[in-house]
Amino acid sequence: MAAQLRAARRPGRALAVLALAAAGGLLAAATVGSGPAGAAGTTLRDLAEAKGSYFGTALTQSNLSSSTITAIAGTQFDMVTPGNEMKWDTTEPSAGNFNFGPGDQIVSFAKAHSMRVRGHTLVWHSQLPNWVSSLPTSQVQAAMEKHITTEATHYKGQVYSWDVVNEPFNEDGTLRTDAFTNAMGSGYIADALRTAHAADPNAKLYLNDYNIEGLGAKSDAMYQLVSSLKQQGVPIDGVGFESHFIVGQVPSSLKANIQRFTALGVNVAITELDDRMPVPASAANLAQQATDYAYVVNSCLAVSGCVGVSQWGVGDPDSWIPGFFSGYGAATMYDDNYQPKAAYNATVTALGGGTSPSPSGSTSPSSSPSSSPSSSASPSVPPTGAACKVSTQVSAWNTGLTENVTVTNTGGSDVNGWKLAFTLPGGQTVTNAWNATVSPATGQVAASNLSYNAAIPAGGSTSFGFQANHTGNAAAASGFTLNGVACTAG
Ligand code: G3I
Repeated sequence: MAAQLRAARRPGRALAVLALAAAGGLLAAATVGSGPAGAAGTTLRDLAEAKGSYFGTALTQSNLSSSTITAIAGTQFDMVTPGNEMKWDTTEPSAGNFNFGPGDQIVSFAKAHSMRVRGHTLVWHSQLPNWVSSLPTSQVQAAMEKHITTEATHYKGQVYSWDVVNEPFNEDGTLRTDAFTNAMGSGYIADALRTAHAADPNAKLYLNDYNIEGLGAKSDAMYQLVSSLKQQGVPIDGVGFESHFIVGQVPSSLKANIQRFTALGVNVAITELDDRMPVPASAANLAQQATDYAYVVNSCLAVSGCVGVSQWGVGDPDSWIPGFFSGYGAATMYDDNYQPKAAYNATVTALGGGTSPSPSGSTSPSSSPSSSPSSSASPSVPPTGAACKVSTQVSAWNTGLTENVTVTNTGGSDVNGWKLAFTLPGGQTVTNAWNATVSPATGQVAASNLSYNAAIPAGGSTSFGFQANHTGNAAAASGFTLNGVACTAG
């Protein structure tokens, strides 16, 4: 998977990789990796990228007005799938009238956070406006081609991939009857792929479906289709396994199935991962969900050609599950309060991140950051300071920001226990922090190490971050001193 993915990475990604600040990651502060300076990753995206992969989420237009959701999305994930904004009912609600505003907003957010975009979706029987299904069959092909050409051209160069055709199969592996099969038979799929390729030759073109994750009739049908398309030279780059699972029921053949598709010469992506359970969630089911997430991530990582995993929605409040499956929910890695669940920590571990105190049955890990000092955060500060260098990265929205701070020990001896004092711009109030305690919340504040990151070896670095409200001034903190010695910027 690595080579293709690395080649497809956006320029400037290295900078974003340094943006460790993550509302969610922070919240799971203990998931910090301890690799060489600059290589440690605390977020899903950093960890995935270190493995040549990505970790994505679906986002909707309404999600963009939530600072909680955007803070997590912009830091934890490096791939975005618009939840609804690129579907036909939004993009061409009436014949020839195109509306790309909502999709453009998602793309703008993605660009601003160095995320790529999975375009979703060009041709689908659902969320299809009535005018298309009401067309005489003789006019459907032209309408489909115009739709694909116009939308794929609009987003040319801005999307990493397209789900060109979504959910084409019935459960028994027969082709779904819809406006497109009625008009063109099975040939609509090849036509759609060729049309999309002509409009945006660099976009990876996918077929996407659910209940094809394990071996079975539906998955076999997709396999035969892809095999046939490849033989005909039709442009197809990948198959999306939606992966809407039920706890404890992830197919054991997932990895083998990924392998057989990639052996055809296409990529596989886990495109819409969630793992539902009856609500309220039981401790046992949350633990099983963690096992399931790790299993899915490991299955993808194990197969060259499985390019990445995307979750369908940032947190449980954003999930489609409760609205569609009565009595079910809790299907994502973040709980109702956007606290990372056991599934998050299991995913971090599967991606090669550091281990963390595992939430035992609770939906909230005990690793939530605190801005109040605790006993574990009382370093024995050496009387002498240490030469230091500090870099900051701020990610701001209307009234809030996250700031990540990296402090490098540029002195000749190790630091064991540290207190980094600094000045917050006026109007900023710290609301939480990770990898350090930060106190007080405004003005002249100090960040103190936690028990697990007290040491900064000579030449080494450590990072911490905080979230703050602001009243208009979202500038970075300044005037840093490490154990009383002024630091240089860098
Ligand atoms: O926009 C209307 C709004 O005007 C109206 O007031 C409201 C009343 O119900 O409905 C709104 O539309 C909803 C739409 O999402 C946008 O929010 C639809 O009812 C609702 O059915 C639709 O659900 C979407 C679903 O696809 C439709 O099949 C989900 O948000 C979306 O997450 C889901 O995503 C799909 C993938 O595209 C394909 N794979 C399965 C996945 C889950 O169903």
